Amino acid sequence: MHNAPFLIIGATGKTGRRIAQKLQAGGYMVRHGSRHAERPFDWEDPSGWAAALEGVSAAYVSYFPDLAVPQAPAAITRLVETARAAGLKKLVLLSGRGEANAERCEEIVRESGIDFTLVRASWFFQNFDEGQLLGSVLGGTIAMPAGEVREPFIDIEDIADVAVAALTEDGHAGELYEVTGPQLLSLADVAEAITQACGRTVEYLPVTFEQFHAALSEQAGPEMADMLTALCREVFDGRNESLADGVQRALGRAPRDFSAFCRQAAASGVWNLPAEAQSA
Ligand SMILES: NC(=O)c1ccc[n+]([C@@H]2O[C@H](COP(=O)([O-])OP(=O)(O)OC[C@H]3O[C@@H](n4cnc5c(N)ncnc54)[C@H](OP(=O)(O)O)[C@@H]3O)[C@@H](O)[C@H]2O)c1
Repeated sequence: MHNAPFLIIGATGKTGRRIAQKLQAGGYMVRHGSRHAERPFDWEDPSGWAAALEGVSAAYVSYFPDLAVPQAPAAITRLVETARAAGLKKLVLLSGRGEANAERCEEIVRESGIDFTLVRASWFFQNFDEGQLLGSVLGGTIAMPAGEVREPFIDIEDIADVAVAALTEDGHAGELYEVTGPQLLSLADVAEAITQACGRTVEYLPVTFEQFHAALSEQAGPEMADMLTALCREVFDGRNESLADGVQRALGRAPRDFSAFCRQAAASGVWNLPAEAQSA
């Protein structure tokens, strides 16, 4: 049993929140890596990182906004150096599938000299009920530059279970877990499953990269639009159209299914809020 805390970087975010809760439910001590924590962790301000890492046994790292941004490798390099100086024993990095920059960050962790587990994830189910695409679902149209490409979307609950296992159990050091859901789904399939579950019509509208960028610039600003358009250009070329066995290898069970997630999200009422409610 660990008597030092686990640092969860991104502890108020989609994956980190679940990982922190699961660890605490298991009786483990958790230190929140957040800009608002007692020992603040801010990717923009490395001066606080050593204090956040002090006395920690292992850390989960979810980078914000996305490992795809050009500054991510420098930030991960600096984090690894700070972690090594602090005597950290283990790093679990959340990575993105099919992304060159994310793979550069994986390499930095691999070469850190610290025990590591890499969790290389496909796109999240929860993008549609908590993340960037909730507004699209509420507005009834998921407009994406993905054509007919299929993605093996994954439930964040599975990612959290893999991360908790990697942090708390022996046998995961040095592993690269490529984690996907159990099915390849086009965005038309996603829209259909959400429609079935919530009883309100949600459609997929394939758009060009330029149309996507213009719409996103208005909604979320040019920086987010640049980042997400570049990411879509990179990954929506069919490279991720395959299932991987990371959940099965790490946990000895199959990953969760999208329709089960849809039923649960619909039952929570999140997809029947007025469209304006999504930014609240
Ligand atoms: N979305 C997907 O489909 C997908 C797929 C594969 C991989 N990923 C990876 O997932 C990672 C994001 O993980 P996530 O979705 O769990 O996180 P998230 O929900 O996007 O956000 C995590 C947290 O980041 C914090 N944050 C914002 N600005 C920050 C800053 N300057 N410094 C430190 N923290 C900051 C916020 O916490 P505070 O306000 O408390 O500081 C926020 O709660 C990305 O690196 C991405 O590459 C995403």
